[in-house]
Amino acid sequence: MRAEAVGGDTGVMGPLHILSVASEVFPLIKTGGLADVAGALPAALRPHGVEMRTLVPGYPAVLERLGDPQTVATFDDLMDDRARVLQGSAAGLDLLVLDAPHLFGRPGNPYLTPDGEDWPDNGLRFGGLARVAAEIARGRIDSYRPDVVHGHDWQAAMVPAYLRQASGEAPPFVLTVHNLAFQGRFPRALLPALGLPDDAFALDGVEYYGDIGFLKAGVLMADRVTTVSPSYAAEIASEGGGMGLGGLLQGRGEDLIGILNGLDVEVWNPATDPLIAQTYDAATPARRAANKAALQARFGLDPRADAPLFGVVSRLTSQKGLDLLLAALPTLLEMGAQLALLGAGEPSLEAGFRAAAEVAPGHIGCVIGYDEALAHQIQAGCDALLVPSRFEPCGLTQLSALRYGAVPVVARTGGLADTVVDANPMALSAGVATGVQFSPVEQAPFERALHQVAALYRDKPTWARLQANAMATDVSWNASAARYAALYRQLAAQP
Ligand code: ADP
Ligand code: GLC
Repeated sequence: MRAEAVGGDTGVMGPLHILSVASEVFPLIKTGGLADVAGALPAALRPHGVEMRTLVPGYPAVLERLGDPQTVATFDDLMDDRARVLQGSAAGLDLLVLDAPHLFGRPGNPYLTPDGEDWPDNGLRFGGLARVAAEIARGRIDSYRPDVVHGHDWQAAMVPAYLRQASGEAPPFVLTVHNLAFQGRFPRALLPALGLPDDAFALDGVEYYGDIGFLKAGVLMADRVTTVSPSYAAEIASEGGGMGLGGLLQGRGEDLIGILNGLDVEVWNPATDPLIAQTYDAATPARRAANKAALQARFGLDPRADAPLFGVVSRLTSQKGLDLLLAALPTLLEMGAQLALLGAGEPSLEAGFRAAAEVAPGHIGCVIGYDEALAHQIQAGCDALLVPSRFEPCGLTQLSALRYGAVPVVARTGGLADTVVDANPMALSAGVATGVQFSPVEQAPFERALHQVAALYRDKPTWARLQANAMATDVSWNASAARYAALYRQLAAQP
């Protein structure tokens, strides 16, 4: 495994054309960080001579915003019905939209029914996406031939399985694993409906513990597998962290690459953010006070400038470790701290935080739901952002926190370990700390971290230094976009 892409310009001239395949893309449709990454990469890559076009499913939210759509390909039978590919743009993105109403003409969450269950035909829906991507890779659209195809997560991981079904040259395929916990596993019986022959169901094919494994197929067949931080790359290639794919990932050796995510620093910029009460920058951190006051008002918290205010912006799932926070709320209250939490997910966690807010109004506030503006307001107004994840491939909220001067308090895992400099004694004396890390992800270490934050918060000069260091951290895409560009160039140059 290598920590980053090696090999720079390998002699391929002119802009590179990359087809990105993603099941969500900000700002059109988003459930999490995958959308942020797919939405930010094209602009980040442009200065590196890379032109990225993104293939996304034609959900209603995407079709509504697609400007100047042109039909560039039609399919008489894509998973049992007609479909077409529309080319157009929206929000500055160069898009190919798979308009297949039988697969994607459903509003709301891209993967779940209104009752919160996986759509029963998710295999066909995203198999269809991958199948069309493979057709485009092979030149199905006149005058468009990508040099490399870059697919994100299990929803795009079947592209090479479809590419294998035809002979002749196909462009290289890069798979990015954003989260190994989501693998796209479906019953064997789906094989014919996916349009795959019997012999695709093999150890060196799509077979995965007796089922069909979308992510497995991608991990096995992609020319390179990237994931979103170097530490997560190491974790998933270990027996304990591989979630069933550890051996296969280990087997990819040098072809498994960790490239850290960046943040869209235009979308997340406290100096210009139209969604927050008061803009500010590294030279004017005192102006955050107005945002803290606004946040306290929004969450019904006591208007206390001196109370440490913790923030959370998160999916509420066991990955995110917020059950630890729920259990730590008595400690938090004893410390005289406050909490503003925004999140949605598992009903038990939603109910837990709702109940806590009812028991301790003025101290604990929660908003259950998804709210982009409020996410910005929490980053701008809280003193410290909590990310106690059990595992975290990269994590983006701690990056926004750094940029907004909200000191991140994170579990030492995956991308959290790679992006936050822990306020240990040496880092403090060297003046380089940007946040607090704790490990292992258990109750006692987490609560110790909360106490540590409260103590640091009372030490005003040290806190100011932490905040300044956080805001000075380069969380942009600059370095990582260069790595992706180098990787694409290297692959495109290979015979
Ligand atoms: P993941 O993709 O695992 O959910 P990330 O930290 O990579 O975690 O990305 C989460 C993204 O989703 C961030 O942009 C964050 O601001 C956003 N987000 C998460 N939950 C909410 C919510 N309830 N409301 C608004 N934005 C949210
Ligand atoms: C996934 C991961 C998260 C990562 C995001 C974008 O949702 O859970 O850690 O930041 O993808 O890569």
